[in-house]
Amino acid sequence: MERILVIGCSGQIGSELVLELRGIYGNHNVFATDIKTPPLEISESGPFQILDVLDYKNLLHFVVRNKITQVYNLAAVLSSNAEKIPLQAWDINMRALMNTLQVARKSEAKKLFWPSSIAVFGPSTPRHNTPQLTIMEPNTVYGISKLAGERWGEYFFTKYGVDFRSVRYPGLISYKTEPGGGTTDYAVEIFFDAVKNNYYECFLSENTTLPMMFMDDAIKNTIRLMEADPEKLSLRSSYNMAGISFTPKELATEIKKHKPDFSVVYKPDFRQKIADGWPASIDDSIARKDWGLIDDYDVKNMVDHMLKKIDEKLNTKQ
Ligand code: SER
Repeated sequence: MERILVIGCSGQIGSELVLELRGIYGNHNVFATDIKTPPLEISESGPFQILDVLDYKNLLHFVVRNKITQVYNLAAVLSSNAEKIPLQAWDINMRALMNTLQVARKSEAKKLFWPSSIAVFGPSTPRHNTPQLTIMEPNTVYGISKLAGERWGEYFFTKYGVDFRSVRYPGLISYKTEPGGGTTDYAVEIFFDAVKNNYYECFLSENTTLPMMFMDDAIKNTIRLMEADPEKLSLRSSYNMAGISFTPKELATEIKKHKPDFSVVYKPDFRQKIADGWPASIDDSIARKDWGLIDDYDVKNMVDHMLKKIDEKLNTKQ
């Protein structure tokens, strides 16, 4: 019987992942924690506790006391926020990871998921169809922390037998919980502003292609990787995951098919430089082969779904 801890349950990924895991493993076997209060559906559907991943002793006690067997560590300061507080972001991102790696080493919670990101790549990486193994010279604090984290994950697997698993998420698009402080956040904000105001001011230029993925696909693949036969996993750093690549202009054009009066003004800010160093598209053939990565959403389905759900969400709130 698996007993699962999700750290960062109030965030963009965690708030959806917890509910999906509870559906599979049973509400009482999925423990949700964060330093922030989660959405009601999380705190009401199963165990929730305020817990700081940076507090190693408390984390270890929690894991032992609750007989946890797997951990998803989703706590992180995202790319654009990290650029505002570089040393603090490095400290938080790395300590959060090292604490969960150490807990996995010292307890029965041997299986650990930790998200990496397309931010591990940098301006010297081939931008199109970026391979799994390639030049990696990230130039953001977030990217450096993710690349270092991948190396540490693989190290703990080889040296201490920690069952470390990871994917390099592209930008994630969701309507339940908005992301905060990322460079790919425009692809979520644009939908909320389209529904609310029919207008969006975009902080990236219209032709910036980035890889993105709808949250349903991201969650499904994350769980798929965690459930995969360990023998099949040829990589213990982090798997490329491609999703769908598009520009802000292409996304706006798709939204306009539903909302003909929608308009976008492009005012690139400091985040443009971050985006310019990231891949435009990714090769994820190793993940497809090793553990069967699949994605169901293309831009059209994703836009249909996002607009419908955000419309429902904003209208029920009023
Ligand atoms: N979506 C993240 C960000 O923009 C990248 O992993 O920071």
